[in-house]
Amino acid sequence: GRTYIVTGAASGIGAETCRQLRAAGARVIGVDRHDTDNADELFLSDLSDPAAIDDLATRLPEGADGLANIAGLPPTAAPDLLLKVNLIGLRRLTERLVPKLADGASIVNLASLAGFGWADALDQVRGALALDFDGDIAGFCADNRLAEGGRSYFLSKEALIVWTMQNRWTWRERGIRMNAISPGPVDTPILPDFIETLGARAEEDMRVMDRPGRPVDIAPVVGFLLSTGSGWLRGANIAADGGMSSHLLTGMH
Ligand code: NAI
Repeated sequence: GRTYIVTGAASGIGAETCRQLRAAGARVIGVDRHDTDNADELFLSDLSDPAAIDDLATRLPEGADGLANIAGLPPTAAPDLLLKVNLIGLRRLTERLVPKLADGASIVNLASLAGFGWADALDQVRGALALDFDGDIAGFCADNRLAEGGRSYFLSKEALIVWTMQNRWTWRERGIRMNAISPGPVDTPILPDFIETLGARAEEDMRVMDRPGRPVDIAPVVGFLLSTGSGWLRGANIAADGGMSSHLLTGMH
């Protein structure tokens, strides 16, 4: 059977991904800061803390067939903490884990429709991708006004999409590939946080869809990207958004 590492296993999209992967016969190793029995084995860790991430990477078993980076914070979180979890820590865990993954493994990053505008924000994206835990993350957030209007969240997802594309095939000699998924609004415990931060804009967006997404709408896409059947997808960013990105691209309902 196949083994997958899933971060954010305790709630929402990560929890449903664990359930579906296990139902399909895979062994699931969960990572979260909260306890859960959604996974076959759970590693408690704080993915905003570089020492915790390095310790986690040391303790996780060798030979997993995939890594799903699903843990993330909503735009109500402090901007520097948000960048650490959604981007800087995600990258650190991934880079530390790659040597331990099986050849042919698949890495899947939970981005967002919020990252849709990455091409219009490349200077900021480059700045975010230059950050590591030794850098002045709080200073970067202040300089770029990331506390305003949930901008930290948007930038974290824009940068995650660009990083996914850049690293689509970085580990090609081992057949390890990377892709992303960009959900629209999904009904999980953090949906109210988005509506609180984005206000009228979020409500406007919601009107474009028949309903918000549910974790069951997203988990199968994660499963597909983890599976061997998606082996020719590299650097893809799959929209799972009830049609919202099509609406934004065409301006048509
Ligand atoms: P959720 O809040 O239900 O689950 C997130 C999980 O990440 C939680 O179990 C939480 O404990 C864990 N986590 C957060 N910070 C952590 C840390 N420092 N260390 C370890 N674990 C940590 O959220 P949801 O909605 O399931 O989101 C999952 C991913 O999907 C996130 O990356 C989010 O940005 C993304 N997403 C969510 C959308 C939505 O509308 N719910 C839309 C688009 C993307």
